[in-house]
Amino acid sequence: MVRAEHWDAAYIEHGIDGVSWHEPVPETSLQLIEALGVEPAEPVVDAGGGGSSLADELVARGFADVTVLDLSAAALEAT
Ligand SMILES: C[S@@+](CC[C@H](N)C(=O)[O-])C[C@H]1O[C@@H](n2cnc3c(N)ncnc32)[C@H](O)[C@@H]1O
Repeated sequence: MVRAEHWDAAYIEHGIDGVSWHEPVPETSLQLIEALGVEPAEPVVDAGGGGSSLADELVARGFADVTVLDLSAAALEAT
């Protein structure tokens, strides 16, 4: 199984909010971004973002340039 198929299979089988790593709100990531002093005007790339709500949470906080990069088409389509 190639890597993308592995991740696709997990998201298809469990759904984006049913995978073991899902967090309703990615609090630690948000705290780290705040601690680093990243400003809402700065671009942010969520590498391996999958079905995370991090991008939504950042947009809700005024970030306007947020990109989600992931090799799982299933995750990106569901998100
Ligand atoms: C453990 S999940 C975490 C997803 C998300 N960050 C979250 O917290 O819900 C890892 C994610 O990385 C993605 N991924 C793994 N290898 C990757 C690669 N080489 N390039 C882009 N995405 C990748 C997977 O498809 C999966 O969505």
